[in-house]
Amino acid sequence: MRILSGVQPSGVLHIGNYLGMMKPALQMQEQGETFLFIADYHSLTTSPDPDLLRERTERVALDFLACGIDPEKTTFFRQSDVPEVAELTWILNCVTPMGLLERCHSFKDKIANGFSPNAGLFDYPVLMASDILLYKSDLVPVGKDQKQHLEVTRDIAIKFNNAYGDILSIPKESIREDVAVIPGTDGRKMSKSYDNTIEIFGNQKKIRKKFMKIVTDSKTLEEPKDPENCNVFNLYKLFATEEQQEALAARYRAGGMGYGHAKQELFDVFWETFRPYREKREELENNMDYVREVIRKGGERARAVAQQTMDEVRKAVGLR
Ligand code: ADP
Ligand code: TRP
Repeated sequence: MRILSGVQPSGVLHIGNYLGMMKPALQMQEQGETFLFIADYHSLTTSPDPDLLRERTERVALDFLACGIDPEKTTFFRQSDVPEVAELTWILNCVTPMGLLERCHSFKDKIANGFSPNAGLFDYPVLMASDILLYKSDLVPVGKDQKQHLEVTRDIAIKFNNAYGDILSIPKESIREDVAVIPGTDGRKMSKSYDNTIEIFGNQKKIRKKFMKIVTDSKTLEEPKDPENCNVFNLYKLFATEEQQEALAARYRAGGMGYGHAKQELFDVFWETFRPYREKREELENNMDYVREVIRKGGERARAVAQQTMDEVRKAVGLR
């Protein structure tokens, strides 16, 4: 079984991204032949600054390698290192009905959020379909927001196969239903757009400050507190063992413990959880040539697969 997923190089890794996207991606490498790529062509749809795009792409590579992507198990690459995907996008554009793309929520949402309605943004789902179909992927782990894109991918693959013969595999999505929405420092979904994120990697003092800013009610130190309705405790649950959780919950209920203490406990358990990854990341940061080499080799491996599919596709449509 071939499993594939992609991530956009969109910013500094926060706890929500890690638990919602990265951890499931790391788990997939134990389940089959896996491909994971950094979707830099997709990022162009929202016109980032070129230097920023390069910087973010390298940062995602670093973060994934630090957190446990094993380049022996996973073909880990940069989307644009396989330009065949752009060629396939063109060919698939020509079997994709406009109406299919006009129905996509992501385009409408982006426009509503003030992004310029360029043709790339409109065509985003076809590029994503090409990512998936180029590698004849069977299973695509994604967040709920990407479900429609997988439906579009299947529609396009079926249309292509009906027109030109059974060449493309029809993929299935695996939606990460079990990953709850991770709350941010204000209790809303953790998201860059809400400015309520806590970064995984970075300066210890600055990160600790974020924890200290978590919003709580205004109970005094003496008063008993309710762990289940507390933003601090909700985050603590993500990292602490059962015993640690029970112990802290008991201290909440007993009273005599301020939220400052709970925040410190949360920070400590968070810091310990990511200690090995932090160490690995520092090591890799001093060895960027290795990181670039991993990505380059991943690109070569991916491209070999892509070229086989493209040979079949070109022949089928009459380009050869
Ligand atoms: P942000 O909302 O900070 O802009 P992105 O949209 O770049 O984050 O998300 C990248 C990935 O991380 C997506 O797959 C998304 O589903 C996941 N993700 C982001 N925030 C959370 C969260 N709070 N809880 C669970 N998953 C999240
Ligand atoms: N659109 C996806 C996202 O924003 C990223 C992505 C691009 C992707 N191509 C893909 C995910 C192919 C899975 C398969 O999260």
